Amino acid sequence: MEKQVKRIGVLTSGGDAPGMNAAVRAVVRTAIYKGIECVGIRRGWNGLINSDFFPMNAGSVSHIIDKGGTILYTARSEEFREPSGRAKALDVCKLLGLDGLVAIGGDGTFRGALALSRQAAEAGHSLQVVGIPATIDNDIGCSHYTIGFDTACNTAVECIDKLRDTMQSHERCSVVEVMGRHAGYLALYVGIAVGATAVLIPERTVDFERDIAEKIRRARLAGTTHFMVVVAEGAGSAVEIGNRIREEIGLDPRVTVLGHIQRGGSPTARDRETASRMGYEAVMVLTAGRGNRVIATQDGRIVDLDMEEALQMKKSFPMDRYQILEALTSTGNRSEGD
Ligand code: F6P
Repeated sequence: MEKQVKRIGVLTSGGDAPGMNAAVRAVVRTAIYKGIECVGIRRGWNGLINSDFFPMNAGSVSHIIDKGGTILYTARSEEFREPSGRAKALDVCKLLGLDGLVAIGGDGTFRGALALSRQAAEAGHSLQVVGIPATIDNDIGCSHYTIGFDTACNTAVECIDKLRDTMQSHERCSVVEVMGRHAGYLALYVGIAVGATAVLIPERTVDFERDIAEKIRRARLAGTTHFMVVVAEGAGSAVEIGNRIREEIGLDPRVTVLGHIQRGGSPTARDRETASRMGYEAVMVLTAGRGNRVIATQDGRIVDLDMEEALQMKKSFPMDRYQILEALTSTGNRSEGD
């Protein structure tokens, strides 16, 4: 049965991810389609605390599906972590007459949304929240996929392909650090896609001798004259790995930290399409009267999960892909190839 939802808010919070704009667009357009008013909240939870909002219409989200970043701006709010900060945010929700709120971001964003909804209930106010997972780290336990991951992978691959050109010419070793916070999804996917000599991820204890020295030796014996080492930021520092390669293997590596480059750029088709489906679903969930939900992908399907349960969920890291990487990069006779 459909619930009477009159007005909802939408915000982006935490680190930005390409495709957030596509999600905002989908939320706004679906709301309008369902006869619901939509309010954009700027700068994440800080926007609610500071009354930083604006009414959104179909035109507010024109020509943003292809844009990286987020038109709503984003922030990590310390004040919102405190009950007093959330109380201020709640006052603004009441003032605006919000029935629901769509929060686009990572785990921290969802925890904030749940805390707000609970505080609202304690104060006798009903505020239904829905989370949409967006982070380049792909590290949200309840969702197989998070918005922004595909674009970040493609950006990193494009950069590393360029690095390879010059590493090949100079017969050098390249050590590239990619983002991912505490997770190795980005490093592993990118490592496979560029045919890396070695990939270091936080999900596997790093053994320099086994994971780098031996791999470079083998690649050398197989005829390779340049080496590409991809390091997840959660597995260690590329600068330190580079130093060890210099001291212990005698190569003269060049170190590149890709950094925030990976967070920008026009979202890929996969991120735009996933964000559009998730944004649509978030509003449909609210109109169906279901609150405190997270929109997630499971085996390619879009599902909605109880937010509290979703925050407890863990997904298994695809170690089988690490085996694939080993099989493809550790065997001999490759002349000057990867
Ligand atoms: O969570 C996204 C992410 O880009 C991580 O990969 C990285 O560790 C972190 O955010 C960087 O945060 P900041 O933008 O605050 O430097």
